[in-house]
Amino acid sequence: MVCFRFSTVPGSGLVLLCLILGAVRSYPLELNLTDSEKNICLYAKWQMNFTIVYETTNNTTKTVSISDLRPVTYDGSICGNDQNGTKIAVQFRSGFSWTVSFTKEASTYSIGSILFSYNMSDSTTFPDAKEKGIVTVNDSVAIKIPLDDIFRCNSLSVLKENNVLQYFWDVHIQPFVQNGTVSTKEFVCDEDKTPTTLAPIIHTTAPSPTTTPAAKEKPEVGNYSVNNGNGTCLLASMGLQLNITQDKVASVININPNTTDFTGNCHTETALLRLNSSTIRYLDFVFAVKNENRFYLKEVNISMRLVNGSVFSIANNNLSYWDAPLGSSYMCNKEQTVSVSGTFQINTFDLRVQPFSVKEGKYSTAQDCSADDDNFLVPIAVGAALAGVLILVLLAYFIGLKRHHAGYEQF
Ligand SMILES: *[C@@H]1O[C@H](CO)[C@@H](O)[C@H](O)[C@H]1NC(C)=O
Ligand SMILES: *[C@@H]1O[C@H](CO)[C@@H](O)[C@H](O)[C@H]1NC(C)=O
Ligand SMILES: *[C@@H]1O[C@H](CO)[C@@H](O)[C@H](O)[C@H]1NC(C)=O
Ligand SMILES: *[C@@H]1O[C@H](CO)[C@@H](O)[C@H](O)[C@H]1NC(C)=O
Ligand SMILES: *[C@@H]1O[C@H](CO)[C@@H](O)[C@H](O)[C@H]1NC(C)=O
Ligand SMILES: *[C@@H]1O[C@H](CO)[C@@H](O)[C@H](O)[C@H]1NC(C)=O
Ligand SMILES: *[C@@H]1O[C@H](CO)[C@@H](O)[C@H](O)[C@H]1NC(C)=O
Repeated sequence: MVCFRFSTVPGSGLVLLCLILGAVRSYPLELNLTDSEKNICLYAKWQMNFTIVYETTNNTTKTVSISDLRPVTYDGSICGNDQNGTKIAVQFRSGFSWTVSFTKEASTYSIGSILFSYNMSDSTTFPDAKEKGIVTVNDSVAIKIPLDDIFRCNSLSVLKENNVLQYFWDVHIQPFVQNGTVSTKEFVCDEDKTPTTLAPIIHTTAPSPTTTPAAKEKPEVGNYSVNNGNGTCLLASMGLQLNITQDKVASVININPNTTDFTGNCHTETALLRLNSSTIRYLDFVFAVKNENRFYLKEVNISMRLVNGSVFSIANNNLSYWDAPLGSSYMCNKEQTVSVSGTFQINTFDLRVQPFSVKEGKYSTAQDCSADDDNFLVPIAVGAALAGVLILVLLAYFIGLKRHHAGYEQF
Protein backbone atom coordinates (compact mmCIF):
# COMPACT_ATOMS: atom_id res chain seq x y z
CA MET A 1 0.00 0.00 0.00
CA VAL A 2 1.39 3.41 -0.95
CA CYS A 3 0.17 6.58 0.69
CA PHE A 4 0.59 10.15 -0.45
CA ARG A 5 0.15 12.86 2.15
CA PHE A 6 -0.37 16.42 1.05
CA SER A 7 -2.26 19.50 2.19
CA THR A 8 -4.78 21.17 -0.07
CA VAL A 9 -5.69 24.55 1.40
CA PRO A 10 -3.35 26.03 3.99
CA GLY A 11 -4.71 25.28 7.40
CA SER A 12 -7.19 22.70 6.19
CA GLY A 13 -5.03 19.93 7.48
CA LEU A 14 -3.58 16.97 5.69
CA VAL A 15 -5.31 14.78 3.20
CA LEU A 16 -4.29 11.17 3.03
CA LEU A 17 -4.52 9.39 -0.24
CA CYS A 18 -3.73 5.74 -0.26
CA LEU A 19 -3.46 3.43 -3.20
CA ILE A 20 -3.55 -0.27 -2.87
CA LEU A 21 -0.99 -1.55 -5.29
CA GLY A 22 -1.16 -5.21 -4.33
CA ALA A 23 -2.72 -6.14 -7.65
CA VAL A 24 0.26 -4.95 -9.72
CA ARG A 25 2.98 -5.85 -7.29
CA SER A 26 5.35 -8.53 -8.50
CA TYR A 27 6.99 -11.13 -6.37
CA PRO A 28 10.52 -12.43 -6.55
CA LEU A 29 11.00 -15.96 -7.73
CA GLU A 30 13.33 -18.06 -5.64
CA LEU A 31 14.82 -21.46 -6.18
CA ASN A 32 17.16 -23.60 -4.08
CA LEU A 33 18.13 -26.89 -5.61
CA THR A 34 20.00 -29.61 -3.77
CA ASP A 35 22.02 -32.50 -5.10
CA SER A 36 21.79 -36.17 -4.12
CA GLU A 37 23.78 -35.47 -0.94
CA LYS A 38 21.31 -32.75 0.03
CA ASN A 39 23.90 -30.06 -0.55
CA ILE A 40 22.66 -26.93 -2.18
CA CYS A 41 23.85 -26.92 -5.79
CA LEU A 42 21.90 -24.07 -7.41
CA TYR A 43 20.60 -20.85 -5.99
CA ALA A 44 18.52 -18.26 -7.79
CA LYS A 45 16.37 -15.34 -6.79
CA TRP A 46 15.08 -12.85 -9.32
CA GLN A 47 12.15 -10.87 -10.64
CA MET A 48 10.79 -10.87 -14.13
CA ASN A 49 7.78 -9.80 -16.14
CA PHE A 50 6.76 -9.94 -19.76
CA THR A 51 4.99 -7.95 -22.42
CA ILE A 52 3.64 -9.80 -25.44
CA VAL A 53 2.16 -8.22 -28.54
CA TYR A 54 -0.04 -10.40 -30.72
CA GLU A 55 -2.33 -10.12 -33.69
CA THR A 56 -6.06 -10.50 -33.33
CA THR A 57 -8.60 -11.91 -35.75
CA ASN A 58 -9.70 -8.46 -36.90
CA ASN A 59 -6.22 -7.36 -37.97
CA THR A 60 -5.37 -5.29 -34.92
CA THR A 61 -2.70 -5.96 -32.34
CA LYS A 62 -3.17 -6.43 -28.64
CA THR A 63 -0.63 -6.19 -25.85
CA VAL A 64 -0.71 -8.35 -22.76
CA SER A 65 1.43 -7.76 -19.71
CA ILE A 66 2.33 -10.65 -17.48
CA SER A 67 3.66 -9.39 -14.18
CA ASP A 68 1.97 -11.49 -11.54
CA LEU A 69 3.30 -14.91 -12.40
CA ARG A 70 1.52 -16.93 -9.73
CA PRO A 71 1.01 -19.87 -9.58
CA VAL A 72 4.63 -20.86 -10.21
CA THR A 73 6.28 -24.29 -10.39
CA TYR A 74 9.89 -25.19 -11.06
CA ASP A 75 9.53 -28.65 -12.59
CA GLY A 76 12.47 -29.74 -14.70
CA SER A 77 15.03 -27.54 -12.95
CA ILE A 78 18.21 -29.54 -12.49
CA CYS A 79 21.70 -29.02 -11.21
CA GLY A 80 24.78 -31.01 -10.46
CA ASN A 81 28.22 -29.66 -10.28
CA ASP A 82 29.62 -31.47 -13.25
CA GLN A 83 26.57 -31.24 -15.36
CA ASN A 84 26.19 -29.12 -18.44
CA GLY A 85 22.45 -29.81 -18.40
CA THR A 86 22.01 -27.46 -15.45
CA LYS A 87 18.96 -25.29 -15.94
CA ILE A 88 16.20 -23.40 -14.26
CA ALA A 89 12.77 -24.24 -15.62
CA VAL A 90 9.77 -22.22 -14.50
CA GLN A 91 6.13 -22.80 -15.34
CA PHE A 92 3.64 -20.12 -14.46
CA ARG A 93 0.01 -19.13 -14.82
CA SER A 94 -1.55 -21.19 -17.57
CA GLY A 95 0.76 -22.43 -20.25
CA PHE A 96 3.78 -20.19 -19.73
CA SER A 97 7.20 -21.70 -19.48
CA TRP A 98 10.59 -20.05 -19.07
CA THR A 99 13.92 -21.88 -19.07
CA VAL A 100 17.48 -20.67 -18.71
CA SER A 101 20.40 -23.03 -19.19
CA PHE A 102 23.96 -22.84 -17.92
CA THR A 103 27.24 -24.36 -19.00
CA LYS A 104 30.30 -24.97 -16.91
CA GLU A 105 33.92 -24.78 -17.90
CA ALA A 106 37.08 -25.25 -15.85
CA SER A 107 36.98 -21.97 -13.94
CA THR A 108 33.92 -20.18 -15.31
CA TYR A 109 30.28 -20.74 -16.02
CA SER A 110 28.06 -19.17 -18.65
CA ILE A 111 24.48 -18.11 -18.66
CA GLY A 112 23.46 -19.47 -22.02
CA SER A 113 20.10 -19.43 -23.70
CA ILE A 114 16.73 -18.32 -22.41
CA LEU A 115 13.66 -20.03 -23.82
CA PHE A 116 10.28 -18.49 -23.26
CA SER A 117 7.07 -20.04 -24.51
CA TYR A 118 3.40 -19.25 -24.17
CA ASN A 119 0.15 -20.74 -25.38
CA MET A 120 -1.81 -18.58 -27.78
CA SER A 121 -4.67 -21.04 -27.62
CA ASP A 122 -5.41 -19.81 -24.11
CA SER A 123 -8.18 -17.37 -24.93
CA THR A 124 -8.37 -15.97 -21.40
CA THR A 125 -4.86 -14.56 -21.68
CA PHE A 126 -4.87 -13.95 -25.43
CA PRO A 127 -8.44 -13.10 -26.41
CA ASP A 128 -9.18 -13.06 -30.17
CA ALA A 129 -5.70 -14.30 -31.07
CA LYS A 130 -5.38 -14.91 -34.78
CA GLU A 131 -2.72 -17.62 -34.45
CA LYS A 132 -3.24 -20.46 -32.00
CA GLY A 133 -0.76 -22.82 -30.44
CA ILE A 134 2.52 -22.58 -28.56
CA VAL A 135 4.94 -19.78 -29.42
CA THR A 136 8.58 -20.05 -28.34
CA VAL A 137 11.21 -17.33 -28.35
CA ASN A 138 14.88 -18.09 -27.88
CA ASP A 139 17.45 -15.59 -26.67
CA SER A 140 21.08 -16.14 -25.98
CA VAL A 141 22.79 -14.16 -23.30
CA ALA A 142 26.37 -15.47 -23.22
CA ILE A 143 27.63 -13.97 -19.98
CA LYS A 144 30.76 -15.60 -18.58
CA ILE A 145 31.26 -15.59 -14.83
CA PRO A 146 34.00 -16.94 -12.53
CA LEU A 147 32.92 -20.30 -11.16
CA ASP A 148 32.86 -19.30 -7.51
CA ASP A 149 30.91 -16.09 -7.98
CA ILE A 150 27.24 -15.39 -7.65
CA PHE A 151 25.93 -13.34 -10.55
CA ARG A 152 24.12 -10.21 -9.44
CA CYS A 153 22.21 -7.70 -11.53
CA ASN A 154 19.81 -5.42 -9.74
CA SER A 155 19.37 -3.17 -12.74
CA LEU A 156 16.57 -3.73 -15.16
CA SER A 157 17.64 -5.78 -18.19
CA VAL A 158 15.44 -6.17 -21.20
CA LEU A 159 15.47 -8.89 -23.81
CA LYS A 160 13.54 -8.17 -26.96
CA GLU A 161 12.83 -10.90 -29.46
CA ASN A 162 10.04 -10.73 -32.02
CA ASN A 163 6.93 -9.57 -30.21
CA VAL A 164 8.10 -10.33 -26.72
CA LEU A 165 9.80 -8.12 -24.17
CA GLN A 166 11.27 -9.87 -21.15
CA TYR A 167 12.26 -7.73 -18.18
CA PHE A 168 14.56 -8.96 -15.42
CA TRP A 169 15.72 -7.26 -12.28
CA ASP A 170 17.03 -8.05 -8.79
CA VAL A 171 18.77 -11.05 -10.31
CA HIS A 172 20.97 -13.27 -8.10
CA ILE A 173 22.04 -16.57 -9.63
CA GLN A 174 24.65 -19.16 -8.81
CA PRO A 175 24.02 -22.26 -10.90
CA PHE A 176 27.07 -24.22 -9.74
CA VAL A 177 27.24 -23.69 -6.00
CA GLN A 178 30.58 -24.93 -4.69
CA ASN A 179 30.76 -27.12 -1.58
CA GLY A 180 27.11 -26.50 -0.70
CA THR A 181 27.61 -22.85 0.26
CA VAL A 182 26.17 -20.00 -1.75
CA SER A 183 29.01 -17.63 -2.55
CA THR A 184 29.29 -14.18 -1.05
CA LYS A 185 31.54 -13.10 -3.90
CA GLU A 186 29.44 -11.23 -6.40
CA PHE A 187 30.00 -10.89 -10.10
CA VAL A 188 28.19 -7.64 -10.76
CA CYS A 189 26.73 -6.91 -14.17
CA ASP A 190 27.99 -3.81 -15.97
CA GLU A 191 24.62 -2.09 -15.64
CA ASP A 192 24.90 -2.16 -11.85
CA LYS A 193 28.36 -0.64 -11.91
CA THR A 194 27.65 2.27 -14.21
CA PRO A 195 23.95 3.02 -14.14
CA THR A 196 24.19 5.58 -16.92
CA THR A 197 26.16 3.57 -19.43
CA LEU A 198 23.42 3.04 -21.95
CA ALA A 199 20.34 5.02 -22.70
CA PRO A 200 17.33 2.72 -22.71
CA ILE A 201 16.33 2.21 -26.30
CA ILE A 202 12.95 0.63 -25.76
CA HIS A 203 10.27 2.06 -27.97
CA THR A 204 7.06 2.58 -26.12
CA THR A 205 4.29 5.07 -26.52
CA ALA A 206 5.06 6.49 -23.11
CA PRO A 207 7.32 9.53 -23.25
CA SER A 208 10.80 8.27 -22.66
CA PRO A 209 12.99 10.02 -20.13
CA THR A 210 15.30 12.58 -21.65
CA THR A 211 18.23 10.61 -22.91
CA THR A 212 20.87 13.32 -23.08
CA PRO A 213 23.98 11.39 -22.20
CA ALA A 214 25.55 12.79 -19.08
CA ALA A 215 29.02 14.23 -19.45
CA LYS A 216 31.16 11.18 -18.99
CA GLU A 217 34.14 10.94 -16.74
CA LYS A 218 37.38 9.80 -18.30
CA PRO A 219 37.60 6.03 -18.74
CA GLU A 220 40.11 4.15 -16.66
CA VAL A 221 43.29 3.13 -18.47
CA GLY A 222 43.56 -0.61 -19.14
CA ASN A 223 46.77 -2.50 -19.82
CA TYR A 224 46.40 -5.12 -22.49
CA SER A 225 48.90 -7.51 -23.99
CA VAL A 226 49.06 -10.49 -26.29
CA ASN A 227 51.42 -13.43 -26.00
CA ASN A 228 52.60 -15.77 -28.66
CA GLY A 229 54.91 -18.71 -28.04
CA ASN A 230 57.80 -16.32 -27.48
CA GLY A 231 56.42 -13.99 -24.85
CA THR A 232 54.64 -10.68 -25.23
CA CYS A 233 54.21 -9.65 -28.85
CA LEU A 234 51.65 -6.85 -28.55
CA LEU A 235 51.28 -4.15 -25.89
CA ALA A 236 48.53 -1.61 -25.47
CA SER A 237 47.48 0.67 -22.66
CA MET A 238 44.57 2.99 -23.11
CA GLY A 239 41.35 4.33 -21.68
CA LEU A 240 38.49 3.50 -24.02
CA GLN A 241 35.15 5.18 -24.40
CA LEU A 242 32.63 3.87 -26.89
CA ASN A 243 30.15 6.22 -28.50
CA ILE A 244 27.22 4.47 -30.15
CA THR A 245 24.57 6.50 -31.91
CA GLN A 246 21.19 4.88 -32.34
CA ASP A 247 18.04 6.68 -33.38
CA LYS A 248 19.91 9.96 -33.09
CA VAL A 249 20.76 9.26 -29.44
CA ALA A 250 24.42 8.87 -28.59
CA SER A 251 25.26 6.45 -25.78
CA VAL A 252 28.68 6.81 -24.27
CA ILE A 253 30.12 3.76 -22.55
CA ASN A 254 33.39 3.64 -20.67
CA ILE A 255 35.20 0.35 -20.81
CA ASN A 256 36.05 -0.89 -17.36
CA PRO A 257 39.41 -2.68 -17.60
CA ASN A 258 38.66 -4.60 -14.38
CA THR A 259 35.86 -6.51 -16.04
CA THR A 260 37.32 -6.76 -19.53
CA ASP A 261 39.17 -9.78 -20.85
CA PHE A 262 41.64 -9.65 -23.69
CA THR A 263 43.20 -12.03 -26.16
CA GLY A 264 44.71 -11.75 -29.61
CA ASN A 265 47.38 -12.98 -31.93
CA CYS A 266 50.48 -11.73 -33.69
CA HIS A 267 51.73 -12.42 -37.17
CA THR A 268 54.47 -10.73 -39.16
CA GLU A 269 52.12 -8.48 -41.13
CA THR A 270 49.05 -8.30 -38.89
CA ALA A 271 48.27 -8.34 -35.19
CA LEU A 272 44.98 -8.55 -33.33
CA LEU A 273 43.92 -7.32 -29.92
CA ARG A 274 40.46 -8.55 -28.91
CA LEU A 275 38.62 -7.28 -25.85
CA ASN A 276 35.48 -8.83 -24.45
CA SER A 277 33.27 -8.52 -21.39
CA SER A 278 29.83 -9.54 -20.27
CA THR A 279 28.25 -7.08 -22.70
CA ILE A 280 30.93 -6.82 -25.36
CA ARG A 281 31.09 -10.03 -27.37
CA TYR A 282 34.20 -8.71 -29.07
CA LEU A 283 35.95 -5.46 -29.75
CA ASP A 284 38.79 -6.11 -32.19
CA PHE A 285 41.70 -3.86 -33.02
CA VAL A 286 43.56 -5.16 -36.07
CA PHE A 287 46.96 -3.69 -36.89
CA ALA A 288 48.81 -3.98 -40.17
CA VAL A 289 52.19 -3.15 -41.64
CA LYS A 290 52.50 -0.75 -44.56
CA ASN A 291 55.45 0.01 -46.81
CA GLU A 292 57.39 -2.59 -44.81
CA ASN A 293 58.39 0.05 -42.31
CA ARG A 294 55.31 1.40 -40.57
CA PHE A 295 52.34 0.01 -38.69
CA TYR A 296 48.83 1.41 -38.24
CA LEU A 297 45.39 0.55 -36.95
CA LYS A 298 43.65 -0.85 -39.99
CA GLU A 299 40.49 -2.47 -38.70
CA VAL A 300 38.02 -2.25 -35.84
CA ASN A 301 35.17 -4.72 -35.37
CA ILE A 302 32.66 -4.67 -32.58
CA SER A 303 29.67 -6.71 -31.53
CA MET A 304 28.01 -5.90 -28.27
CA ARG A 305 24.72 -6.35 -26.52
CA LEU A 306 22.83 -3.20 -25.65
CA VAL A 307 20.53 -2.85 -22.66
CA ASN A 308 17.46 -3.27 -24.82
CA GLY A 309 18.66 -6.75 -25.71
CA SER A 310 19.56 -5.91 -29.29
CA VAL A 311 23.03 -6.55 -30.67
CA PHE A 312 25.09 -3.73 -32.12
CA SER A 313 27.71 -4.79 -34.68
CA ILE A 314 29.97 -2.70 -36.90
CA ALA A 315 33.15 -3.46 -38.80
CA ASN A 316 35.53 -1.27 -40.75
CA ASN A 317 38.74 -2.65 -42.25
CA ASN A 318 39.77 0.50 -44.04
CA LEU A 319 40.97 2.69 -41.21
CA SER A 320 44.22 4.55 -40.85
CA TYR A 321 45.01 5.55 -37.29
CA TRP A 322 47.91 5.24 -34.86
CA ASP A 323 50.56 5.30 -37.56
CA ALA A 324 54.19 4.89 -36.42
CA PRO A 325 57.47 3.31 -37.57
CA LEU A 326 57.93 -0.42 -36.98
CA GLY A 327 60.13 -0.99 -33.97
CA SER A 328 58.61 1.92 -32.10
CA SER A 329 55.37 2.44 -30.22
CA TYR A 330 52.61 4.95 -30.83
CA MET A 331 51.62 7.24 -28.01
CA CYS A 332 48.89 9.82 -27.50
CA ASN A 333 48.00 11.22 -24.11
CA LYS A 334 45.36 13.64 -25.27
CA GLU A 335 41.88 12.47 -26.18
CA GLN A 336 41.69 11.10 -29.71
CA THR A 337 38.77 9.75 -31.68
CA VAL A 338 38.78 6.69 -33.89
CA SER A 339 35.80 7.09 -36.14
CA VAL A 340 34.75 3.59 -37.15
CA SER A 341 31.43 4.51 -38.74
CA GLY A 342 28.81 7.21 -38.65
CA THR A 343 27.22 5.46 -35.69
CA PHE A 344 30.29 4.28 -33.84
CA GLN A 345 33.31 6.11 -32.50
CA ILE A 346 35.94 5.22 -29.96
CA ASN A 347 37.47 7.95 -27.84
CA THR A 348 40.90 7.03 -26.55
CA PHE A 349 42.77 8.48 -23.59
CA ASP A 350 46.38 8.07 -22.54
CA LEU A 351 47.00 5.75 -25.41
CA ARG A 352 50.18 3.77 -25.98
CA VAL A 353 50.32 0.85 -28.34
CA GLN A 354 52.91 -1.38 -29.93
CA PRO A 355 51.52 -4.18 -32.07
CA PHE A 356 54.84 -5.36 -33.56
CA SER A 357 58.47 -5.96 -32.58
CA VAL A 358 57.94 -5.88 -28.82
CA LYS A 359 61.24 -6.65 -27.09
CA GLU A 360 61.30 -8.20 -23.62
CA GLY A 361 57.71 -7.26 -22.92
CA LYS A 362 58.50 -3.54 -22.94
CA TYR A 363 57.50 -0.65 -25.13
CA SER A 364 60.09 0.73 -27.53
CA THR A 365 60.57 4.46 -27.98
CA ALA A 366 57.35 6.23 -28.73
CA GLN A 367 56.23 8.35 -31.58
CA ASP A 368 53.91 10.91 -30.10
CA CYS A 369 50.65 11.85 -31.78
CA SER A 370 51.54 15.55 -31.72
CA ALA A 371 53.85 14.67 -34.62
CA ASP A 372 50.78 13.39 -36.53
CA ASP A 373 49.48 16.80 -37.32
CA ASP A 374 51.21 19.98 -38.19
CA ASN A 375 48.66 21.77 -36.08
CA PHE A 376 51.21 22.39 -33.37
CA LEU A 377 52.59 25.06 -35.71
CA VAL A 378 49.32 26.97 -35.52
CA PRO A 379 49.65 28.24 -31.93
CA ILE A 380 53.20 29.35 -32.71
CA ALA A 381 52.05 31.19 -35.83
CA VAL A 382 49.17 32.79 -33.94
CA GLY A 383 51.48 33.74 -31.09
CA ALA A 384 53.99 35.30 -33.49
CA ALA A 385 51.25 37.23 -35.25
CA LEU A 386 49.90 38.54 -31.95
CA ALA A 387 53.37 39.60 -30.85
CA GLY A 388 53.77 41.43 -34.15
CA VAL A 389 50.47 43.25 -33.69
CA LEU A 390 51.42 44.20 -30.15
CA ILE A 391 54.72 45.68 -31.30
CA LEU A 392 52.95 47.66 -34.04
CA VAL A 393 50.41 49.01 -31.54
CA LEU A 394 53.15 50.02 -29.12
CA LEU A 395 55.16 51.65 -31.89
CA ALA A 396 52.10 53.55 -33.09
CA TYR A 397 51.43 54.66 -29.51
CA PHE A 398 54.91 55.94 -28.91
CA ILE A 399 55.07 57.67 -32.27
CA GLY A 400 51.69 59.24 -31.54
CA LEU A 401 52.84 60.36 -28.10
CA LYS A 402 55.99 61.91 -29.55
CA ARG A 403 54.02 63.78 -32.22
CA HIS A 404 51.66 65.03 -29.52
CA HIS A 405 54.49 66.32 -27.44
CA ALA A 406 56.04 67.87 -30.52
CA GLY A 407 52.71 69.57 -31.18
CA TYR A 408 52.60 71.11 -27.72
CA GLU A 409 56.19 72.25 -27.97
CA GLN A 410 55.35 74.31 -31.02
CA PHE A 411 53.15 76.61 -28.92
C1 LIG B 1 -6.82 -8.45 -42.75
O1 LIG B 1 -5.79 -8.04 -43.64
C2 LIG B 1 -5.65 -8.88 -44.79
C3 LIG B 1 -4.43 -8.44 -45.58
O2 LIG B 1 -4.06 -7.13 -45.25
C4 LIG B 1 -6.96 -8.80 -45.62
O3 LIG B 1 -6.83 -9.66 -46.75
C5 LIG B 1 -8.12 -9.24 -44.74
O4 LIG B 1 -9.31 -9.08 -45.46
C6 LIG B 1 -8.19 -8.43 -43.46
N1 LIG B 1 -9.22 -8.99 -42.57
C7 LIG B 1 -10.05 -8.22 -41.86
C8 LIG B 1 -11.02 -8.96 -41.00
O5 LIG B 1 -10.05 -7.00 -41.93
C1 LIG C 1 7.99 -4.93 -15.44
O1 LIG C 1 8.81 -4.47 -14.39
C2 LIG C 1 9.48 -3.27 -14.67
C3 LIG C 1 10.42 -2.97 -13.51
O2 LIG C 1 9.78 -3.01 -12.30
C4 LIG C 1 8.46 -2.17 -14.88
O3 LIG C 1 9.11 -0.98 -15.21
C5 LIG C 1 7.50 -2.58 -16.00
O4 LIG C 1 6.49 -1.63 -16.14
C6 LIG C 1 6.91 -3.93 -15.71
N1 LIG C 1 6.14 -4.36 -16.87
C7 LIG C 1 4.97 -4.95 -16.75
C8 LIG C 1 4.38 -5.42 -18.00
O5 LIG C 1 4.41 -5.10 -15.66
C1 LIG D 1 30.20 -28.07 -20.98
O1 LIG D 1 30.07 -27.40 -22.24
C2 LIG D 1 31.18 -26.59 -22.56
C3 LIG D 1 30.88 -25.84 -23.83
O2 LIG D 1 30.19 -26.65 -24.75
C4 LIG D 1 32.43 -27.48 -22.68
O3 LIG D 1 33.56 -26.67 -22.98
C5 LIG D 1 32.65 -28.20 -21.36
O4 LIG D 1 33.74 -29.08 -21.48
C6 LIG D 1 31.41 -28.99 -20.95
N1 LIG D 1 31.62 -29.50 -19.59
C7 LIG D 1 31.28 -30.74 -19.22
C8 LIG D 1 31.57 -31.11 -17.81
O5 LIG D 1 30.75 -31.53 -19.99
C1 LIG E 1 35.57 -26.57 -1.86
O1 LIG E 1 36.21 -27.61 -1.15
C2 LIG E 1 37.46 -27.99 -1.72
C3 LIG E 1 37.96 -29.21 -0.93
O2 LIG E 1 37.64 -29.09 0.43
C4 LIG E 1 38.41 -26.80 -1.64
O3 LIG E 1 39.66 -27.16 -2.20
C5 LIG E 1 37.81 -25.66 -2.42
O4 LIG E 1 38.64 -24.51 -2.30
C6 LIG E 1 36.42 -25.33 -1.91
N1 LIG E 1 35.85 -24.34 -2.80
C7 LIG E 1 35.19 -23.27 -2.35
C8 LIG E 1 34.68 -22.34 -3.37
O5 LIG E 1 35.01 -23.05 -1.16
C1 LIG F 1 60.76 -17.33 -31.20
O1 LIG F 1 62.02 -16.69 -31.20
C2 LIG F 1 63.03 -17.41 -31.90
C3 LIG F 1 64.33 -16.65 -31.73
O2 LIG F 1 64.15 -15.26 -31.84
C4 LIG F 1 62.63 -17.57 -33.36
O3 LIG F 1 63.60 -18.32 -34.04
C5 LIG F 1 61.27 -18.27 -33.44
O4 LIG F 1 60.83 -18.32 -34.78
C6 LIG F 1 60.25 -17.52 -32.62
N1 LIG F 1 58.98 -18.27 -32.58
C7 LIG F 1 57.81 -17.68 -32.80
C8 LIG F 1 56.62 -18.57 -32.66
O5 LIG F 1 57.69 -16.51 -33.10
C1 LIG G 1 29.26 10.86 -29.76
O1 LIG G 1 28.93 10.84 -31.13
C2 LIG G 1 28.04 11.87 -31.52
C3 LIG G 1 27.67 11.66 -32.97
O2 LIG G 1 28.80 11.43 -33.77
C4 LIG G 1 28.68 13.22 -31.25
O3 LIG G 1 27.80 14.26 -31.58
C5 LIG G 1 29.05 13.33 -29.78
O4 LIG G 1 29.74 14.53 -29.54
C6 LIG G 1 29.93 12.16 -29.38
N1 LIG G 1 30.16 12.21 -27.95
C7 LIG G 1 31.34 11.94 -27.40
C8 LIG G 1 31.42 12.05 -25.91
O5 LIG G 1 32.31 11.63 -28.06
C1 LIG H 1 39.36 -1.32 -10.81
O1 LIG H 1 40.15 -1.92 -9.78
C2 LIG H 1 40.97 -0.98 -9.10
C3 LIG H 1 41.84 -1.78 -8.13
O2 LIG H 1 41.12 -2.82 -7.54
C4 LIG H 1 40.08 0.06 -8.38
O3 LIG H 1 40.89 0.99 -7.72
C5 LIG H 1 39.22 0.76 -9.41
O4 LIG H 1 38.32 1.65 -8.78
C6 LIG H 1 38.43 -0.26 -10.24
N1 LIG H 1 37.77 0.45 -11.30
C7 LIG H 1 36.46 0.32 -11.60
C8 LIG H 1 35.96 1.18 -12.71
O5 LIG H 1 35.74 -0.48 -11.04
